[in-house]
This record gives sequence, structure tokens and C-alpha cells, in this order.
Amino acid sequence: MNRMIYVKQTSHVMHMISIIGAGKVGSAAAFDILRFRTSDVVLVDVVENLAQGEALDMMQAAPAIEFDGKIRGTSDYSEIEGSELVIVTAGQARQPGMSRFDLAEKNAKIVKSVVKEVAKYCPDCRLMMVTNPVDVMTYVAYKESGFERNRVFGMGNILDTLRFRSYIALELGVSREDIRGLVIGEHGDTMVPLVRYASVSGIPITELLTKEQVEKIVSLTRSSGSDVIRLKGATTYAPGVVIAIMADAVLRGRNRVMSVSTFLQGEYGFSDVSIGVPCVLGRNGVEKILELNLDAETKREFEKSVASVKEATKKTYKPA
Ligand code: NAI
Repeated sequence: MNRMIYVKQTSHVMHMISIIGAGKVGSAAAFDILRFRTSDVVLVDVVENLAQGEALDMMQAAPAIEFDGKIRGTSDYSEIEGSELVIVTAGQARQPGMSRFDLAEKNAKIVKSVVKEVAKYCPDCRLMMVTNPVDVMTYVAYKESGFERNRVFGMGNILDTLRFRSYIALELGVSREDIRGLVIGEHGDTMVPLVRYASVSGIPITELLTKEQVEKIVSLTRSSGSDVIRLKGATTYAPGVVIAIMADAVLRGRNRVMSVSTFLQGEYGFSDVSIGVPCVLGRNGVEKILELNLDAETKREFEKSVASVKEATKKTYKPA
């Protein structure tokens, strides 16, 4: 039946994205991507009928969001063939009280098996990692895929940045649209919100907020994922929309400047680690890594973050 639905759908869009893992984050991301109306979407999950059900549900919403492309669900990896971008959300999610690193071992196994299929069916794609701990999983995916490093990147700190911006706007009582900011480092407890670079329509936040207010915002940004998980068990809307924004940056070659998890080869003085740093995200994935001149304190915080991700990666990943 689902095959029939697929055959009957017409496609007026140019691109094709596959999302591996049709759970809460994968399905939310799929629907947000459909709203951009630029790409067909294939959802893949090991749980029988889950991806098919999600796709059918979304197809029924498509007239309302004016999406004329294809959305389909499957458990068969061969259907991802032709995807320009593959997004991996497959794996276990945190339970209340867990750190992202607690998922590393189990999710590394899943990611390895997924990457094998991606490399087989989409050898030329860009590969975007979402599964946590995302910096470690980006490293695993880069090593296992054999792809050039620009083609394998992780969601990094874009979600953290969105949260940072949200809390700045709340504290100031101004439009969220006018807030700009950047978070670098681990997508986890040691993330580094760059206070010096955060602004409201170009005005540094340090001119508008007290030290105590800034500290509160930084602390809320760091705990925000856990705060949601404690309340409702999982994060969905914010990661979903971030994934769609990243996908749009890649498919339309928009060269957006975002803090993406990428494999470092000497940048910021570090190598052999995947971690969030500001990058230009475009058609080829990471088009460029932007090296900032960090002040001494921020440098120390970033070093701590790199050390933490490196340790977790070393514990998790043993090359074959
Ligand atoms: P979920 O449990 O709702 O969905 C995960 C899905 O992956 C399940 O449907 C499961 O059947 C599927 N899956 C497992 N192994 C698979 C395989 N080999 N092939 C295909 N599908 C497979 O979890 P949720 O909430 O969607 O989270 C997914 C991942 O994303 C978690 O690791 C979570 O921690 C992470 N995440 C990362 C964020 C980030 O900023 N990087 C933000 C939010 C979540």
C-alpha cells in the first residue's frame, strides 16, 4: 500500500533528503523540512511500519502546507539511493538524569551500521549527524564512512545557540528575531556560549545585561535540554526545526554561518576530534571553518570541552 502511495505521488521539487530514524526527532525534522517545499523526504526506521505511518500522516497534511513532493517511509535502505543529504537521528535518546555521553557505546554501534548503509547507497551524499552524543557520533561517522571531512558534520551547537538566543530575548523582553549569538564546543555540559559575540541588533548583550543576568542565561542554556527531558521526556520541536534549517543551508547552498560539529585538523590548535566550531555551511557541507581569536578564559573553557569530547570518543570508538 505504501509503495502505491509512493508511486502515485508526483514530485515537483529538485532535491532528495533521507532521514534515518523516524522517532520523535526524525519525524519532527521531516515535517519541518517538508515545510520548506524544496526536497523529497525518505524516512527510514528499523521498527516495522513506524516510518511508513509517519510518512502517511505527513502526506495527508501535505495539501495544507502546499507540499507537492514525495514523502515516504521504509525499512529498506536501498530506498535512500539518490539522496543528496542523509540525516541520522537513529539511536537511543536520553532519559531524565542521563548525560549524553551515557548513550555513546550503544549509539556508536547503531551509527556504525547506519553509516555502512549510507556509504553503500549514497556514496556522494552529505552526512549530517544528530544522534547523541553528537560530537562523538560525528567522529564515528567520519571515520567509518571514509567521506571527505567537509561532507560529515554534526548538529553541534546550533540548537544550543537557539536556546541561548531564546533566553537572552526572554531576559531583555525584546524580539527574539533581533538576537544573534554563538555557542561552541561540546553539545553537552561543557558547551561554551560566547557572551562576547552575542548581540541585540548589533548591541553587545554585555551593555544591556548585568553579569548576574548573563550568568543566569549561560546556565539556562547549558541545562535547557535536560530541563525539557525532565518535563516531557524528549526534545522535539527545537531539534526538528534546527535540522530543517541546516538541511536548507546545504540543499540551497546558502553558506549560513553556524556552529557545526566538524572534524578538526589543527584548527583552534586541536586535531583528531569532532566538536562544534563556527563554520560556513553550504552545498558541500562544511565549506569553511572560521577560526576566532578567543580570549584567554574562553580558550580555557573550549580546551576543557575538547578534552571532555576527546575522552568520550576514545572510550567509545575503536577503529576496526
Ligand atoms: P526516539 O527513540 O524517539 O527515535 C530514535 C529512532 O531510531 C527509533 O524510532 C528507533 O527505532 C530508530 N533506530 C534505532 N536504530 C536504528 C537503525 N539501525 N536504523 C534505523 N532506525 C533506527 O529518539 P529521539 O528523541 O528521536 O532522539 C534520537 C536521537 O537524537 C537521540 O540519540 C537523541 O539523544 C538525539 N538528539 C540529538 C540532538 C542534538 O542536538 N544533536 C537533539 C535532540 C535529540
